[in-house]
Formats: sequence, structure tokens, C-alpha cells
Amino acid sequence: MAEPAILVSGGAGYIGSHTLRHLAAEGRKLVVLDNFVHGHQEAILDEGITVVEGDLGDPAVVERVFSEHEIGAVVHFAAFINVGESVRDPLKYYDNNTARPLVLLAAMQRHGCKVFVLSSTAAVYGEPEAIPLVESHPLQPVNPYGWSKLMLEQILRDCGTAWGLRSVCLRYFNASGSSGDGLIGEDHEPETHLIPRVLLALTGEADKITVFGTDYDTPDGTCIRDYIHVNDLARAHALALDHLLGGGESVACNLGTGVGVSVREIIDAVEEVTGKKVPVEFGERREGDPARLVADPSRAKEILGWEAGKKDVREMVESAWTWMNGPKKGHFQK
Ligand code: UFG
Repeated sequence: MAEPAILVSGGAGYIGSHTLRHLAAEGRKLVVLDNFVHGHQEAILDEGITVVEGDLGDPAVVERVFSEHEIGAVVHFAAFINVGESVRDPLKYYDNNTARPLVLLAAMQRHGCKVFVLSSTAAVYGEPEAIPLVESHPLQPVNPYGWSKLMLEQILRDCGTAWGLRSVCLRYFNASGSSGDGLIGEDHEPETHLIPRVLLALTGEADKITVFGTDYDTPDGTCIRDYIHVNDLARAHALALDHLLGGGESVACNLGTGVGVSVREIIDAVEEVTGKKVPVEFGERREGDPARLVADPSRAKEILGWEAGKKDVREMVESAWTWMNGPKKGHFQK
């Protein structure tokens, strides 16, 4: 019998496309479902991947995918990710990130597909009570984006109880970097993330970087985050699939390095890697930013056998810079 395929929703997005490439390199059979609202056709590089253009909230499209292909597992990325926008337009986030995946889950239930890997987020924890964050930390998001993902995590647990779905919820910290060969990388519209924004201030696409707040209770007054390389994230999805396909139990795991890096340290790393002076402006705090978010990644190591390969933020900056200067110069065709 032919090997069942893995359905990757949102496989043309930033983390989705890196994961897709990793899974393709492992020789896995892959089907992508992407509506290309934020995803990029050009980010799907490997031949032999079936690409279905459509929305995971469209019952007809999803049913067609499951009837035309034997789907053995789903890796679900497709989601909106802009925290500020989620505060301004919560329904957009609950619709796309929480409600539409129900269509996918219903198709999985109908077709007896019981393995699900979720692209989740550290935003499910909200304001940390203690650092580093462990998975047993209270789950109290401070924005609709975090809630939209946490609700989906809960839905997966309930489906586990009801019909035996097994899931791994991967709670990413700050995804960064690129494939390293200049072919795929981070290209969000609008770009809100720190590392690409600092680099855009060097390529001339932005005139400067504004540091959001210098009066936090941290050693240099700027926010501390745990930056994790996108290729390390990609590898974690493959290990999560292996865990579940090998009969493993449902689990939620943090994906981070365990190393906290401040905004000022990111700017220093950019200057060191590029040899260029970053034009910086010091501004007000951005609403909703916790002072520190750092993962305790030990559960992912214990259960999935996963550990970050790149832990020095200069490596993340270097690979993001490669993408900014590569053949696509940091942008897919619009
Ligand atoms: N920052 C600046 N200037 C900028 C952009 C960001 O100073 O122009 C600062 C932010 O205030 C924050 C840090 O850089 O302190 C990192 O900000 P990002 O926007 O890059 O990332 P966040 O930590 O806010 O968000 C990330 C993901 C979210 C996720 C969140 C918590 O992008 O999807 O982590 O897990 F919800």
C-alpha cells in the first residue's frame, strides 16, 4: 500500500515553508493546503509536493483533499500572527485561527486521521509569573492571538478524549533566521518582527529601527526574548510527527533555546554580523509586551529528542541577513 501523505496547512508561510523543505528532504510524501493570502507560491521549492490552493475553512476543498489523498497526519500552520491586529480585530483571529481549523478537524474525524501537529505559540502563557517558562505555567493569554491558539489547543485535547486524536502543540518562542541559502526566509507584510526590521533599516527599506521601551526591569532596560532558528523549528515538526506516528501520547512542548536576548543585544549582534551601524531611535513601550519571555525547552528534549542546534543569536541574524541579500533579496514576488 502507498505511504500515507502528510497534509501541511499553511505550507507556503514562513515556518511552514521551512518545515516543508525539511520534511521533503526526509523523503516524506506531502500535500500542501494554502490560500496564499499571506503565503508565497515561490516558498514551495521541492518538486513532487502536491499543492492545493484553498482555504482550510472551506469544507468542499478540505473534503476533496481527504478523499483524493490518503492523509496520515496533519501539520497545521495556517494562521494569522499579528498580535496588535488581533487586539483591534479579534473576530478575524478567532475565525481564521480557531473556527476554520474545525473544518479540517471534522474532515480528519470523518476520514479516521488522528495525528495533528500544531503550530502554537508562547503567547498562550501571557504575562510570565516565572522565567524560564515551563509548559505547566498558567495559560492566561493577554491578547486574542494567544487565545485563538490556546482555544485550538483545548479543542485538540477534547478531540483526543472524544475520538482519539493525538496531537503535539509546539509553542514557539521567537522564530528567526532563514533557510541559509537565500532561497526562502521571512517575508511578512507588514513586517513587525524585530530582527527583519533591524535589517530593513540597513538595506534602506526603513530609515531606522525604533526600540520599543528602554525602562523595562531587565539589565539594559529593553525586552528580553528567546530567538529560535526557523530550521530548528522545522526539525521539531518532523520529530513531533515521528513521536505521534510511533504511537506517542499528546503533549505540548516549548520550542526555544532557553537563552534570553535583549533588543539592544539584537542590535549589537546585527552590527557585529553585518559590520554596519544600525540607525536606532528609542521610543515608547509597545502595548502588551512582557519584559521577558524565555523558554524552558527541556520537555521537548525529553519527549521529542529535540534541542535547538543554533543558540547564538548571531547565527539567527547571519541567516536572516543572508536572505536579505540572497537572490530574492528578502522578498518573494508580490
Ligand atoms: N521590537 C522593537 N522594535 C520593533 C519590533 C520589535 O523594539 O520594531 C521589540 C518588541 O517590543 C519586543 C521584541 O522586539 O520586545 C521582539 O518583538 P517581535 O515583534 O519580534 O516579537 P514578539 O516577542 O512580540 O512576538 C513573538 C511572535 C508572536 C508571539 C510572541 C509570543 O511574533 O507571534 O512572540 O510568543 F505571539
